[in-house]
Amino acid sequence: MNAFDIVLFGGAGDLALRKLLPALYRACREGNLPGDTRVIATSHREGADAEYPQKARDALKEYLGAEEYNQEAVEAFMQRVHPVTLDIREFNANWQALAELMPGEDRVRVFYLAIPPAIYGHCCENLSRAGLVNDLSRVVVEKPIGYDGESAGVINDRIAEFFPEKNIFRIDHYLGKETVQNLMALRFSNVLFEHLWDAQTIDHIQITIAETVGLEGRAGFYNEAGALRDMVQNHLLQLLCLIAMESPSKMSAKNIRAEKIKVLEALRPLVDAGVDENTVRGQYVAGELDKRLVPGYLEELGQSSSRTETFVALRAHIDNWRWSQVPFYLRTGKRMHKRMAEIVIQYKPVSHRVYDQSAGPVQPNRLIIRLQPEESIQLVLTAKKLDKLEMELQPVSLNLNFADAYGSFKSDAYKRLILDVAADNPALFLHREEVEAAWAWVDPIIRHWHEVADQPNLYRAGSWGPKAAEDMMRLDGRAWKNL
Ligand code: BG6
Repeated sequence: MNAFDIVLFGGAGDLALRKLLPALYRACREGNLPGDTRVIATSHREGADAEYPQKARDALKEYLGAEEYNQEAVEAFMQRVHPVTLDIREFNANWQALAELMPGEDRVRVFYLAIPPAIYGHCCENLSRAGLVNDLSRVVVEKPIGYDGESAGVINDRIAEFFPEKNIFRIDHYLGKETVQNLMALRFSNVLFEHLWDAQTIDHIQITIAETVGLEGRAGFYNEAGALRDMVQNHLLQLLCLIAMESPSKMSAKNIRAEKIKVLEALRPLVDAGVDENTVRGQYVAGELDKRLVPGYLEELGQSSSRTETFVALRAHIDNWRWSQVPFYLRTGKRMHKRMAEIVIQYKPVSHRVYDQSAGPVQPNRLIIRLQPEESIQLVLTAKKLDKLEMELQPVSLNLNFADAYGSFKSDAYKRLILDVAADNPALFLHREEVEAAWAWVDPIIRHWHEVADQPNLYRAGSWGPKAAEDMMRLDGRAWKNL
């Protein structure tokens, strides 16, 4: 890979400070920022460029783990960081100055829009006016793209006025997580699983992304969005696609995306299945989390009422040959009991029980792919208890814990994805059709909730969500796997 320039629009914002700078620091430290690769960070406040280096150093100190923070490495990285002051909306001399900073037509330019979607259009237009868009210019946009299918279409059209689809990298950072890529390796490189990956053998699938954090200073955005838009439309549906898709003929972006789109299009519309029966909305109230009392959503928000969901659980079906009648249970929430992201593939019970009851229950097999807090893959089997004369069965696990297996291995989804953009590898990014297909499934749910206009179910911070989510599973004779 050749040296490149990456411009962080919104360089002083939460995303840039919390995720992007640490990711670029890690890439730099590992020797993955070739030659004189530069990080240009824009902030709009006059004079902000002078304060930026200190702000960046503070952010690195705060957001890097103690074991990876190294003073010398930070200073070496900071040599590459160039702060600039820029008003994204207004085309003025500062845009010309930005263009002068990046002369030459033969260098890759990555424009990372860590800014509100409402100003994506201004940013792309001004990049074009400043003469910064050519075939080697790539733009990176964050999820959620839009507020619904229609607004996503408007944003996508606007960006497309300036960048061809092949140079637009729509990021979903879950796809950069190591275990998510391993999910594909596991499925498509092991004969063992391919024959055990359909409605014949699988009882159901659970996908959980539980978070312990609350609003984290994003109250305005979050209260407008809610968990369905913030997490389900993108991260959870992407995980569902990777589990459910057919094998692409090769691992190219075009083929992977085509398979994912087929899954999204095969999702049974919940309005047909019944939104109320198949979804649960929740909102947290004050409770104890990690031994401290945390405020409820409304208190954090500073409002007396809000119908925004901070938790959602739903039952989805994919109407195709492979997945007929296999429920996919999706769940995500803020202020839950533990930070955990996990996919559970639960197999059917054995067809005939050969041991008598005294051997104890035969638990169905489970394949558990954990993304967080640690990255691991676990296969739960049934075996005999050792040292017992009588036959007694027990669940045992085959464990692949990546931290144990690869020592100090530390994955960083953003680092991986930024380097993919620089190397022009779009396989882990979303095509606009994927984004729009995901909205097409999510939009009617939101519309229905809006029409019904009832309150979300309340759950205590520090719990696993509202009781209604447990009930949804119980009704099917199943249970969520919690930690
Ligand atoms: C973001 C959401 O996309 O993902 C946040 O906007 C959420 O609300 C975050 O906290 C979770 O990401 P991770 O990698 O910490 O699980």
